[in-house]
Amino acid sequence: MAERIRIAAVTDVPPGSGKELTAGGRVIALFNVDGEFHALDGVCPHAGGPLGEGGLSGNIVTCPWHGWQFDVTTGTHCLNANLVHASLPISVDGGEVYVELP
Ligand code: FES
Repeated sequence: MAERIRIAAVTDVPPGSGKELTAGGRVIALFNVDGEFHALDGVCPHAGGPLGEGGLSGNIVTCPWHGWQFDVTTGTHCLNANLVHASLPISVDGGEVYVELP
């Protein structure tokens, strides 16, 4: 059964930015794309880099370690559509951001 966990206040992650967070023993990369929140598994599938610390341009995050890029709205790698990184459902309620963990 999925578990819904508060991970941030809306104001913690301004539009156009991302943040590395932990919840339920997992590292989560939370992004704010023009007011819409999206979350990916925070551990880059290439070599474990911190995706939440990557630069966000539009809906694309660039891993700070070696530059792999992902669409944060889908988890899809920008050069290899067959590589889809895990994303997590997000909800916003009363100024708080919640993630749903499996
Ligand atoms: S660890 Fe992310 S690109 Fe290498």
